[in-house]
Amino acid sequence: MKRQDFRFFHSLRVRWVEVDMQKIVFNAHYLMYFDTAMADYWRALALPYEEAMLQWGGDLYVKKASIEYHGSARFDDRLDVALQCTRVGKSSMIFSGAIFRGDEWLITCELVYVFANPASQTAKPVPQALRSLLTRFEAGEAMVDIKTGDWALLGKDAAKLRTAVFVEEQGIPPAMEWDEADGTAVHAVAYNGLGQGIATGRLVRHASHVGKIGRMAVHRALRGSHVGQVVLHTLMVAARQRGDTEVMLHAQRSAESFYQGLGFAARGAPFDEVGIAHIEMFSLL
Ligand SMILES: CC(C)(COP(=O)(O)OP(=O)(O)OC[C@H]1O[C@@H](n2cnc3c(N)ncnc32)[C@H](O)[C@@H]1OP(=O)(O)O)[C@@H](O)C(=O)NCCC(=O)NCCS
Repeated sequence: MKRQDFRFFHSLRVRWVEVDMQKIVFNAHYLMYFDTAMADYWRALALPYEEAMLQWGGDLYVKKASIEYHGSARFDDRLDVALQCTRVGKSSMIFSGAIFRGDEWLITCELVYVFANPASQTAKPVPQALRSLLTRFEAGEAMVDIKTGDWALLGKDAAKLRTAVFVEEQGIPPAMEWDEADGTAVHAVAYNGLGQGIATGRLVRHASHVGKIGRMAVHRALRGSHVGQVVLHTLMVAARQRGDTEVMLHAQRSAESFYQGLGFAARGAPFDEVGIAHIEMFSLL
């Protein structure tokens, strides 16, 4: 088995508690590694797992898990857990997995999942939408489609995300979330393969040739899968295309490193906005 056989990888580092008296990873931990990687696999499909399963009235249950050990991992090893959906049956899904240390192949695994009704735990057909998502992902297709447009086009999906992230999660009063700038802003919404909005942001005019990006919000379950980066990049391209030479934003301090990693620099002293610590950041275009 080779790394090139896989599209999806999840990386982890072996911890002390996972190592046994022989100073190698205790065999049962590898199943946990595969399970942890599965959660990331759904994120790679841009699928908010819990929400999607609820909507489909089912959930995935492991029916069979088999592991073969070819080599041992040790404390502090950095491992790459690879997964691939190899078959979707009527109600089952088969995943083939492998663990690599660099190019060295240590473990092979096969996981058989059954899609079932959570109340009765009886099998039901894999939803067509999930089947198609898995096939498209394994064929190498992009899982996120980004649209830009005005409030009339994207407002409904942007508002749903912003309500969940800013109003419900961060506790920002609704009256402070909505303003007249939405009416003139360029909005961006990222959609997954099911047509659900999963991330948003907006670009408004701040000064002559200076755009202001704001209201960046990514679905809670999909953070860290680079969709926020795609939205930010799309808004920066839109700013450049209309002739802006700089974009600035008021970053929540907790997101400062996110913007910094994407080329933004802090300017001035931190300040409070809607009860949350912020800092101004900018990037030249
Ligand atoms: C902040 C936010 C928009 C970032 O979007 P995201 O999709 O989670 O971020 P991405 O996956 O695109 O991250 C790109 C990189 O930034 C890093 N990053 C993301 N959020 C970070 C954070 N809060 N702190 C430090 N680094 C962060 C990621 O690890 C990734 O690094 P990598 O390229 O080395 O892997 C998103 O987490 C979010 O909606 N948070 C809640 C609302 C919020 O805080 N909005 C910002 C208001 S200013």
